[in-house]
This record gives sequence, C-alpha cells and structure tokens, in this order.
Amino acid sequence: MSTDHQLAKIFPSKSNITLDQYKELHKQSIEDPDTFWSKAAKEYLDWFRPFDKVSDGSFEHGDVRWFQGGKLNVSYNALDRQIGKNPNKRSNDIALVWEGDEPDDIRKLTYEEVLRKVCQIANALLRMGVRKGDIVTVYMPMIPELAMTMLACTRIGAVHSVVFAGFSAEALAQRISAAQSQVLITADVGCRGGKQIPLKDIVNDSLTKMDCDSIVKHVLVWERFYTGDAESTPPYEMSARDVRMDPLVAVQRPYCPPEHMDAEDNLFILYTSGSTGKPKGLLHTTGGYALYAKMTTQISFDLHPGDLFACVADCGWITGHTYVVYGPLLNGSTTFMFESTPVYPDEGRYWDMVQRHKITQFYTAPTAIRLLMRYGDEAPKKYDLSSLKVLGTVGEPINPEAWRWYYEVVGNSNCTVVDTYWQTETGGHVITNLPGVTPMKPGSCTLPFYGVNAAVLDPQSGKELTEPDEHGHYEGVMALKQPWPGMARTCLGDHERYLNVYFRPYPGYYFTGDTVSRDEDGFHFIIGRMDDVINVSGHRIGTAEVESALVAHPAVAQAAVVGQPHDIKGQAICAFVMLTVGYEETPELLKELRGSVRTEIGAFCTPDLIVVTPSLPMTRSGKIMRRILRKIVCGETDSLGDTSTLADPSIVDVLITKVGELT
Ligand code: PRX
Repeated sequence: MSTDHQLAKIFPSKSNITLDQYKELHKQSIEDPDTFWSKAAKEYLDWFRPFDKVSDGSFEHGDVRWFQGGKLNVSYNALDRQIGKNPNKRSNDIALVWEGDEPDDIRKLTYEEVLRKVCQIANALLRMGVRKGDIVTVYMPMIPELAMTMLACTRIGAVHSVVFAGFSAEALAQRISAAQSQVLITADVGCRGGKQIPLKDIVNDSLTKMDCDSIVKHVLVWERFYTGDAESTPPYEMSARDVRMDPLVAVQRPYCPPEHMDAEDNLFILYTSGSTGKPKGLLHTTGGYALYAKMTTQISFDLHPGDLFACVADCGWITGHTYVVYGPLLNGSTTFMFESTPVYPDEGRYWDMVQRHKITQFYTAPTAIRLLMRYGDEAPKKYDLSSLKVLGTVGEPINPEAWRWYYEVVGNSNCTVVDTYWQTETGGHVITNLPGVTPMKPGSCTLPFYGVNAAVLDPQSGKELTEPDEHGHYEGVMALKQPWPGMARTCLGDHERYLNVYFRPYPGYYFTGDTVSRDEDGFHFIIGRMDDVINVSGHRIGTAEVESALVAHPAVAQAAVVGQPHDIKGQAICAFVMLTVGYEETPELLKELRGSVRTEIGAFCTPDLIVVTPSLPMTRSGKIMRRILRKIVCGETDSLGDTSTLADPSIVDVLITKVGELT
C-alpha cells in the first residue's frame, strides 16, 4: 500500500451511507438507469406535467433525451419551489450572499427578494421582445444581477449564453455571431482587484466586429454603482440600442409566470475550447441538467439546511453555472457569490470570507490553492476556519502537495476534500468522492457519481483495458459508457462536430479528451488532456485558438502552441513562432504578439513564453509535430522519439538551445 493509501480514511459526516451502500446504489443506477433517474427526477424536481419516458436515444446518433413529455421550469424549481414548500421559513432564508471586490461591499438577498427581482428582469426581457428559445448573450461581472439575469432567462424560456467577462471584444463578437444573439446584457464596468474593467467599452468594440452590428438589436446595461435614481445621467455614453437595465427592471411587475418548458427544451449554451480554432457552443437542456446540477451539489458536497455554500468560480464558466447558481439554489441552499480575486486586498481574502460568513463548503481550483500555498500557512492560520466541512477542487489534476495543504492547513485535517472531475460537456460532476462515503486519496477524483459508467480504453483499439500494467493500474482514455441526464445534447448549429468530437473517436463511448490512470481499487487519477487543449489555471484553452490569434499579427507566418508545466497555473502557454520575412525579433514585437492574443481572445490566454524560430519541426508533408515541441518545453529532450521523419531534423537542436536560453 502506498502512503497515499494510508492517508485514506472515511471521515465523519452527516451522510448516512457506507461505501458498500454507495457501490450498491451506483450499481443499480448503472444496471437500471431508468428506475434510478425516474425516482430521482420525481423527488428532486417539481414538474408541471410528469414525464412519459425516462430516457431515450443513443450515443451513436447523439439523440440522447431525458424525461420526455415532462414540463418544468428551472427558475420555478430554484425559487418558487423553495418558498412554496415552506412559506414561513424559506421566503426569509438567504438565497445569495454576495461579496464584491471590496470586502465591505456585501449584499444578502432572500429567496423572496431574488424571486421578485428575477421576475422583474424576466418581465423587462419580455418587454424588450425576448421570447422562448431566443438566445441572450450575457457579458457581466460577478454581481448578483448576473445570477438573477440567468434565472430570468430560464423563467421565460430564453437561452442564455454567458460569456466570461475576461474575454476580449473579438472573442465576444465571435460568440454573439455564432449564436446570432439579438439581445446582449452587460454592465458598465466590472471590478476586480481594485481596478475597473470597462465592460461596456469592450461591448461597443465587439459590435463593430464580424456581423454583430446588424445582429444585436438591444444592449441592456446594468450599472455597477447604480444609485436608484432613474433620472441620473448614465455613467457611459448611450447609443440608440442601449437600454438602462436598472430603471427598466425597477418598474416591472415583480411576478412573472414561469414558462412551462419541455424537459428537452434548450436551457443554455456555453462556449468552450476544442481542438480547432472555433469554440464550441455546448447546449444544455432543461430537465436533465437541472436534476444533475441539483443532485451533484447536494451529494458531492454533503449539503444540509443552514449551510453556506461557496464556489468561487466565475459564472462565465460551467463551474459557475452549476455550482454558483443552479445547484445551490435548486437545493434551497444559500449560495455565495464572489466578485474579486484570491489575493485582493491580500492573500487572506478567502479565509477572511470563510470566517466572516461562516462558509461551510468551499470550492475552488488547484491553481488558487497552489498560489495561496506559496504565501505560507500564516494566512489561513490567522482565521477561524472551523465552519468548513467540505473543501472542493475542480478544473485540473491536483498535485498531492497542494491537496495536503488544502486538507491539513485549510481544513485542519477535519474536512473532506472532494476532487470533482467533470467538464462543460458533462453538466456536473462525473467522477468524485462523496464526503463521509468514499475514502480520499490525494490527487484522485476517486469513483464515479451515480449513473456514470466510467471506462478506461486502450487508445489504439478503443477497447476497455482488461490487463493492468506492472503497477496494477489501468492507464488509458477516460470514457463514459452510458448517457447521464446532465450531458450536453449538441454543439449549437453543428451536430456533426458534436458527434465527431465526442462519440465517433471511440464508438459506443462518450470521449472526454482526457487520459486517466485507474488504480487497483478502481480509483481514478486524471492525467491530462490528450487533444490539443491545454489547461491554464483550470481554464481550457485550445492551442489552435492561440495560434490563430498569433498569426493574426502580420509579423507571424506560422505558430505552434503547446502547454508547459507551471508551478501555479498547472500549464503555461508556450508559443513557437516563425516570423514573416522582413520582421525581426525585438522586445517590442514580442510585446505586440502577446497583445495580439489579449485582443483576439483575452488576457488569461497570454503566452508565458514566445520562442521565435527560423522553422518548426514539420513532417515532410508539412504537419507540425507538436509532440516534439511539447517534449522540448517539458525538458524531456532525452525522449523525443523518432525525429527522422522531420523535413529538417536539425531544427530540434536549435529549439532545444533556444528554449534552454529562455527558461
Ligand atoms: O481535463 C479535465 C480538467 O478540465 C477539463 C474540463 O474543462 P472545462 O470544460 O473547462 O470544465 C472545467 C470545470 C469542470 C477536463 O477535461 N478537469 C476538470 N476537473 C478535473 C480535471 N482534471 C483533473 N481533475 C479534476 N478534478
């Protein structure tokens, strides 16, 4: 047994099932999914009309559907259901605690208040002509109005497409155009780390790009510091299509009947990076997503009444959708929403918030843990963190060192660390330990969630591995063998792509794009992406997107981007560029190239390293061998493999020297 194994133990928890009972229930959920999910859907959700059929369709055709015939509304389930079930209590319960960029900027909203405001926003959207099925693009800072705008969309059946506010005007335009979204909701500014981000200016810029000027009919603008005075001059220059959101919302009726949505009606789209330069608009639908969001939040985090659940992700990513907004509210819990960064005003920010608000579940990414760990144990030790019960991690593999720090220093060896593995496509956790149920092993997301049939495939044959390696492990492709309710149903406007990316690589399986090692206990350790996607600070970035941002600059003839191991970010972006004739490498040019990536995608995708090279390692047919570049930046130059197929093998040594000089 390894040391990791010895650390594994079952922690006391209010959950009252054992590992064997979990295994039995998991087995039932796999063998008879319809019985399992039917029961769950009836128990967890309120339906306006019961469903006729639990599941249908197949991976092969990509026509999976859940709870057909059923009618429901997500905002109704998240808000009205909570109040209606227990009128005296829930309506006064806090639905949302928000802490702004400044630690003393705090808002607490009850379920009743959120419901009223969501209804007013919904009525404002109806007033602006938004109808069921319309796609509304949302480009907002992390303020309560963002969560309420999302819920208002679901109330009237509009499909939200939230674009992370760190994306550039160009990237926003690409997403507006791809969705042909006529209504855009934004704010004048966002606040982060003491600085203001001029979101409205970025929006204005985006509307000059692609075909956005003719697509977007209305820009609805929240004001970050609205004073309540509708007669005041707005803090930005208004154009003909701009509408001040705060005064418009304030005059609406605070009740809006919820649209009766079909279980398979579209709920939201969310763009994510893939192997090509074009982001995929993954589409989630109503019934399956709501059920999966609610169940995974409750079970993976062992949620109980009175808990204060804090997921510090941004709503621009799937983690924010499922675990800031939908999951906690569907459970009638109190969700915590955070606008700032882990190090503002100092590195004690998270722990200060835990102490002040008595946070019970705290959910972040390994990159933040590694960053805070760097500052030492002092900051977490300064605060009373005894309210914490569960510490979650997501987005990338967590190294055992960071896991231990999280567990021992932050959790005082008293909390469960849940390592939740999932993706934008899966809607919610697919592999995760359950507090008090699954033993923990640092670095392992452990065992599958209910209804998730995890398989490890041989990358070549596509068959499930049956023989362990010399360590008793099964290392291969992470795949899922049967549908689950939270899965994305298509890529907006490109179902072929959906089939090609997820279901055709390994027929009969959903392909995650990750490699995994499964140990002798059946515990999963995610290794990383096997496609051209890199994971920077838990953000998934397509190398092709960064490459096209670089070649958008006239100085770049060709670019190849790979991930390089990074102590804090997990991976850093490393770009190899060949310059156009007439250009020379200068510090100014390198700055411009970084600027090009910021403009085309966003600052969070800025390359850490740009290597200017006379040529790239290419096969004779002109294909760039990224494998070799990856090995070079990882310092694995003694295992480069066969380089004889390269058109010019001598370039390898040139690059090794150059990278050595730069790093
Ligand atoms: O590579 C896996 C990694 O993040 C990818 C999904 O990225 P995205 O769709 O942006 O969603 C991130 C938040 C769910 C996966 O393919 N990943 C996610 N969670 C883990 C992880 N890698 C290891 N361990 C995890 N817990």
